[in-house]
Amino acid sequence: MQKQLMISNIFLLIAALLVWQLKNVSCEITTSLKSDGIILNKRLLNAPGECVGNLTRRNHPSVGPLGCYIRNSSFTTDTLNGLANLNFSDTYQDQDGNLMDPGLCIIHCADYFFTFAALTNGNQCKCGNKTGLDAYTKLTNDSSVNQTCNIKCVGNTSYICGGENGYTVYNALTSISSYIAPTIDINQKLEIIHNINKNVRYKGCYKDSLYCNQRLLNGTSEDVAGMTVESCLAYCWQKNYTYGGLEIGSQCFCDNEYDSLTRLSIDECSSSCEGNNSEICGGPLALSIYNASNYGLVNNGNSPVNNDNNKGSSNLNIGGIVGGIIGVIVVISVLIFLAVRIYRQRSQGSKEISQDPPT
Ligand SMILES: *[C@@H]1O[C@H](CO)[C@@H](O)[C@H](O)[C@H]1NC(C)=O
Ligand SMILES: *[C@@H]1O[C@H](CO)[C@@H](O)[C@H](O)[C@H]1NC(C)=O
Ligand SMILES: *[C@@H]1O[C@H](CO)[C@@H](O)[C@H](O)[C@H]1NC(C)=O
Ligand SMILES: *[C@@H]1O[C@H](CO)[C@@H](O)[C@H](O)[C@H]1NC(C)=O
Ligand SMILES: *[C@@H]1O[C@H](CO)[C@@H](O)[C@H](O)[C@H]1NC(C)=O
Ligand SMILES: *[C@@H]1O[C@H](CO)[C@@H](O)[C@H](O)[C@H]1NC(C)=O
Ligand SMILES: *[C@@H]1O[C@H](CO)[C@@H](O)[C@H](O)[C@H]1NC(C)=O
Ligand SMILES: *[C@@H]1O[C@H](CO)[C@@H](O)[C@H](O)[C@H]1NC(C)=O
Ligand SMILES: *[C@@H]1O[C@H](CO)[C@@H](O)[C@H](O)[C@H]1NC(C)=O
Ligand SMILES: *[C@@H]1O[C@H](CO)[C@@H](O)[C@H](O)[C@H]1NC(C)=O
Ligand SMILES: *[C@@H]1O[C@H](CO)[C@@H](O)[C@H](O)[C@H]1NC(C)=O
Repeated sequence: MQKQLMISNIFLLIAALLVWQLKNVSCEITTSLKSDGIILNKRLLNAPGECVGNLTRRNHPSVGPLGCYIRNSSFTTDTLNGLANLNFSDTYQDQDGNLMDPGLCIIHCADYFFTFAALTNGNQCKCGNKTGLDAYTKLTNDSSVNQTCNIKCVGNTSYICGGENGYTVYNALTSISSYIAPTIDINQKLEIIHNINKNVRYKGCYKDSLYCNQRLLNGTSEDVAGMTVESCLAYCWQKNYTYGGLEIGSQCFCDNEYDSLTRLSIDECSSSCEGNNSEICGGPLALSIYNASNYGLVNNGNSPVNNDNNKGSSNLNIGGIVGGIIGVIVVISVLIFLAVRIYRQRSQGSKEISQDPPT
């Protein structure tokens, strides 16, 4: 009996040692596979044809310009000075100085409810309200139009962006068919923009890159109707990313870091969110970045969803596999232990029988 107890104790010890050993090993497996998992996920997300940030929406006007205009020198004040009236940069130019096209200018002006968007000198944009063209004269002679508005847009040479003294003018509110005008007024909009820093999660307005794989937030992205700041942060948090960034009203990008050198002035993030006029969702090639950490824990108590894009999923799968292996080993140990015990009992029993004197 004492021998049996000893053997069973040894088996239990071996089983415990095995479990302990495997647990330690499993930690190493988990970490190394986890970092592989991140790389793998990034690669998957950036596979050809579906690379992160291939959401580039360069807006193109669906109607032509109102015409080519020149400044009428008999007016002392410029009337295409709408952005200056809002204390914003006037003229508007993109940060890189090489993306300007009619779409960029029209959206920038429309975001501030201006009636007119005027492009000049190939890379500059001015906005004006109803009286915006008062100090300007439309050219009607074809050859003088060609001589005055003669500079191709730096962002897209298919378009003319005015000239040295010429202005190619578009109707800002009707030229881009996909543009959804907000239903609030300009004062409400300005108040939202000027108070955006009060949101503790808000990190600023940052320049984005137009090109696939060079997005400022390079983790994953989505473009959905009804976008709000909340839905973007929930999306990035569910994908286990630290930051969420919104762009041009409906696009959401996620990543764990970003280059903060490219911060823009507040007026660059001017697009109202398509799902909530009272929120700002970036601007054309400008990201409103927010901290998405713990977003769902604080806001709805849901736990992160595990899916193919979740960086933790391979970690959890490995954990499950290791747990399964440990379980199988424990069961096998117990079975061996029982088998040996039964075998010993039987052989003892047969000895007793053989020792019985034949009757
Ligand atoms: C980006 O999307 C377009 C069409 O939506 C597709 O033709 C193109 O291959 C994509 N590019 C990359 C690099 O994913
Ligand atoms: C339109 O802009 C001019 C300056 O260009 C400004 O004086 C005027 O108040 C603006 N009108 C409206 C209705 O915003
Ligand atoms: C612009 O700044 C001036 C001077 O600081 C101020 O009087 C005016 O109200 C500001 N306009 C807007 C739209 O914020
Ligand atoms: C400039 O404006 C004045 C005053 O409105 C007008 O009389 C004149 O014809 C304009 N000049 C041009 C070249 O349109
Ligand atoms: C002006 O330019 C357009 C397009 O480049 C061309 O079709 C037209 O003939 C030109 N008109 C004149 C008067 O040069
Ligand atoms: C148009 O302008 C050109 C010079 O820019 C001039 O030679 C021509 O006579 C003008 N044509 C008309 C119809 O005014
Ligand atoms: C330039 O504009 C044309 C005409 O709208 C469009 O087809 C093309 O995709 C644009 N190119 C870029 C780089 O946006
Ligand atoms: C974005 O991800 C792609 C693919 O993983 C990578 O090649 C690229 O360098 C990344 N860009 C940045 C700015 O991190
Ligand atoms: C829209 O956003 C504002 C500001 O974040 C918020 O107060 C409001 O409740 C939101 N409206 C809806 C319908 O979600
Ligand atoms: C983001 O928010 C979390 C709390 O939710 C906080 O611990 C963290 O410091 C914040 N990060 C930044 C960069 O603001
Ligand atoms: C999310 O990522 C952090 C570190 O980046 C990791 O510690 C955590 O386990 C992950 N959570 C999930 C659910 O994947």
